[in-house]
Amino acid sequence: MRKILATCALPYANGPIHIGHMMEHLQADFWIRFQKMLGHDCLFLCADDTHGTPIMVEARRRAIAPEQLIAEAWEEHSKDLSDFQIDYNLYSSTNSEENRILCEQFFKHMKDKGHINTKVIDQLFCEHDKMFLPDRFVKGICPKCGAKDQYGDSCDSCGATYSPADLKSPFCIVCNNPPVLKQSEQLLFKVNNFRDYLIDWLPKHSSREVANKMMEWFKEPLRDWDISRNAPYFGIQIPGHPGKYFYVWVDAPMGYISTTLQYCKAKGLTFDDYWREDSTAEVYHFIGKDITYFHTLFWPALLKTAEFRSPTQVFVHGHVTVNGEKMSKSKGTQINARTYLKHLDPMYLRYYYASKLTSGVDDLDLSLDDFVARVNSDLVGKITNLASRGAQMLNKRLDGNMAECDPQGLLLVKKAQAQASIIASHFENRDFLKAINEIRALADEANRYFDEKAPWKTIDNDPEATRQVLSTTLNLFRILAIFLQPILPQYTKRVAVLFSETYPYRWIDLDSLISRKKISEYEMLAIRIEPDKVKAMLEDSAKLHLAKLESSAATAKKYLPAASSATSSATSPAISSSTDPGKAAEVSIDDFMKVDLRVAKIIEAEEIKEADKLLRLKVDLGPLGQRQIIAGIKSAYKAETLVGRLTVVVANLAPRKMKFGISEGMVLAAGAGGSELFILAPDSGAKPGDKIK
Ligand code: MSP
Ligand code: ZN
Repeated sequence: MRKILATCALPYANGPIHIGHMMEHLQADFWIRFQKMLGHDCLFLCADDTHGTPIMVEARRRAIAPEQLIAEAWEEHSKDLSDFQIDYNLYSSTNSEENRILCEQFFKHMKDKGHINTKVIDQLFCEHDKMFLPDRFVKGICPKCGAKDQYGDSCDSCGATYSPADLKSPFCIVCNNPPVLKQSEQLLFKVNNFRDYLIDWLPKHSSREVANKMMEWFKEPLRDWDISRNAPYFGIQIPGHPGKYFYVWVDAPMGYISTTLQYCKAKGLTFDDYWREDSTAEVYHFIGKDITYFHTLFWPALLKTAEFRSPTQVFVHGHVTVNGEKMSKSKGTQINARTYLKHLDPMYLRYYYASKLTSGVDDLDLSLDDFVARVNSDLVGKITNLASRGAQMLNKRLDGNMAECDPQGLLLVKKAQAQASIIASHFENRDFLKAINEIRALADEANRYFDEKAPWKTIDNDPEATRQVLSTTLNLFRILAIFLQPILPQYTKRVAVLFSETYPYRWIDLDSLISRKKISEYEMLAIRIEPDKVKAMLEDSAKLHLAKLESSAATAKKYLPAASSATSSATSPAISSSTDPGKAAEVSIDDFMKVDLRVAKIIEAEEIKEADKLLRLKVDLGPLGQRQIIAGIKSAYKAETLVGRLTVVVANLAPRKMKFGISEGMVLAAGAGGSELFILAPDSGAKPGDKIK
């Protein structure tokens, strides 16, 4: 028995999962379900990637704490994935204690072994948003060709690459203000120290296609990798370097390990079996081609440094295009998983992707006409048809009792069984397209057999021979359904009900045939896709993106910068910006009077273990009663030291549902964030419930 751990790339928490991401989760799910059918010991893990500037900025834009944003994303992503029948053992988050500890541990190794450089770097800084701008947060005029509106790292028009400081007339994409150049010291990881290791590693742990491509990087020395980011940043602090955070791409892959750790802890499994250097388990990462660099250069180098094992293989896939083009929001072809599910059964997409997936890195085109045609003609017309015709006639005319196969048909059944090993090897190699082709060819033969035997003609005169023909057809169908189980688990589950068998099937169940058995009522297995539904889905999708655009334009007008990411989790940007002299937009006295500030006594305080920054408080507001408040001040206060203290809260804030419960108010705090965060307190004599005027 093999011990297998498979992962998908961790989706960013700042956006919904779309059908492009889904292609990755689906192929990994096909593969791992297949491995389980063989009886291997499988673990399938993923998590949300929760850190980085885009997430911080998105949280500010929506005037919520980043913790809330990632909690909401987690709920949505988990549901999308499970509704698509992706069978994760655990879907976790990189914003966890385990992940923080791992990062610190890795960093210690990097430092102790001399793999860290420091360097003073010029970076663009937005005075308005009080943050350093990543390359993709600055736009301007290309220094080479003069094209307008180009990102800080490269020009779409002439293809030049440059540093953001070279852009002409740069502006911050959040607030449109010109940034300034600011120097700061950064920490760099000396990847080139692993040059020889990686040159040896790559061809052994990725396909030839991928390894060859990656080898091009070795024509020159590998450049040091900047692994630090300045506060404000939503992420993990670098120990010993105040104000510095790990770049999100450092802590993201750690998520593979920390999720394993969490799962092993919860299930009483041995973590060392998976990630220690001498572990015998196989570890596979499924990723898209755009992130190969991180997974085949940085990641193995980091693992080596920290004395963890490296992945057995990195499986790289291409991108999904729709109707031959890059997915487009305005055309509605960037279809969110949720939008798809509103209109169509996930089984269709599972089938279609499988019918086109290879182990290569070519893009996969979801041609919507072809999608409808293939599902309708193959899955419904060829495969399912065998069951609906065979089972319905058997039930209606012959009491649903199966007999032995007829001798001629038995040859066909044997042939289908004999295909098991070739189909298994296609699954093993992730050549799902080839597996589907074999399955479809068998379905064609089975249909030909059925049509030749024409049971509808023989049923009156020779019911027993007809029973044998129908039994053969159903056995053939059952074999196809077992082959399809990794791809269409719900479908095959219904087939198991039809034959009163245990689900899930194992691969060895292909060896057995059924005879002399009564089948159940035939329940519909799959119906045709109505092309109108696809049209409606696209319209819905385009509308959704348009509505998003409008709402973000509306919030952009109201947008106020946060003083820092840490305070933005304790207080809303609108409040904290008022502590930012000269920057806040004016509010009228009437507006200000709407805010009901009260003295509150903290009567209970407990830390929320699963959250880095949150405490759960119960406060007493005197005549206004008691409230629960979830406050982002854990980095500055131990829960027990707060009990009994007086503070100031916003008492009329609309209650907000957060991942860890409802927050019915907001505690006011000041300071730079992290451990430098100070809750406001009234002078002595104030009583709980007193209004602040
Ligand atoms: N958060 C990083 C991954 C960190 S892994 C330690 C990330 N997130 S992502 O949400 O942008 O992408 C997640 C995965 O989806 C990546 O493997 C990416 O290649 C894949 N895809 C994103 N768009 C895709 C398509 N249009 N088609 C196929 N896969 C796509 O990168
Ligand atoms: Zn800005």
